[in-house]
Amino acid sequence: MPPLLEHVGRGAAGARALIGLVVERVDWHARELIAALRMRGMETIPVRLTRCGFATQSATGLHIDGFDSTLPHAIIVRSMAGGTFEAVTLRLGVLHALRELGVPVWNDARAIERCVDKSMTSFLLSRAGIATPATWTTESYEAARAIVRRETADGPLVLKPLFGSQGRGLLLIRTLEDLPPAEQTAGRVFYLQRFIGVERGGYHDFRVLVVHGRIVAAMQRHSAHWVTNIKRGGRPVAVAVNDELKSVALRAAAAVGAAFVGVDIIYGADQRPNVLEVNSMPAWSGLQRVTAVNIASAFADCFAEVVGVRDTRGATA
Ligand SMILES: Nc1ncnc2c1ncn2[C@@H]1O[C@H](COP(=O)(O)OP(=O)(O)OP(=O)(O)O)[C@@H](O)[C@H]1O
Ligand SMILES: [Mg+2]
Repeated sequence: MPPLLEHVGRGAAGARALIGLVVERVDWHARELIAALRMRGMETIPVRLTRCGFATQSATGLHIDGFDSTLPHAIIVRSMAGGTFEAVTLRLGVLHALRELGVPVWNDARAIERCVDKSMTSFLLSRAGIATPATWTTESYEAARAIVRRETADGPLVLKPLFGSQGRGLLLIRTLEDLPPAEQTAGRVFYLQRFIGVERGGYHDFRVLVVHGRIVAAMQRHSAHWVTNIKRGGRPVAVAVNDELKSVALRAAAAVGAAFVGVDIIYGADQRPNVLEVNSMPAWSGLQRVTAVNIASAFADCFAEVVGVRDTRGATA
């Protein structure tokens, strides 16, 4: 039988819970989280997944960067570096294993996999009856051409990288000529989606941040370009979310089974809120600029409550 949590112990002894924060580097987001968690009695150790691995003879069967032979009380995945298929498989394997050992992982590997692969997100959203633009994926260039030929008769499509990258690499496909030539797409998969953007004095969509079934913050993104990502020049604008948006965001988070997500929602010509994607490692610096709520604090409150970490604020040492 594999060693379970109670047999191997978690973190260092003492009152303060030890949280592993998976990061590529300790950036502003990480510092915000570390401070907010500390305020709530949790110490945070940054974890580089590139330095983690399996060690079947050890008590936990794992080696977690910064944790010697113990396990963290819980793990927060803030960001994951890209890498080869083997490297990413190993890193996700470590997160899967932590969950198997009973360590709460936000977001766990399954949710990350479901969100990183945009086609799986589209599949799960539509299976859950959530409005999302019609999507086709294929590995075949000929099949992609056939989809483009057939579907552009009804309006433009968007060609996206299967793994998103903050608004980079999206192409509007109005006609077959817009599809890049075969030699430029070798080895790629084609993720083609109905374009549902509407010019309404620029382009607007919504980003709604959900933490464990609660709406924590939201913004509208305004841009002169149909790609509204903040990293591509989109402007964050404060907004009060209506019940319709709230409900769609919560349902989208539930559909992918994630604890902490940024849901991108756009009103198409049909005036319905369509979910474009669900981000399982959302950044929130743009959102923080236009929201009164401290996002890291709201996250930490919910995290402490859900993973059962004791709040020691006001406790005497
Ligand atoms: N089907 C669509 N119709 C209209 N606009 C779209 C559509 N798909 C994407 N967009 C625009 O492009 C932006 C980026 O698309 P999307 O959110 O799917 O990918 P991404 O942000 O690059 O991915 P990731 O967040 O995983 O890095 C959206 O915020 C939206 O402004
Ligand atoms: Mg996006």
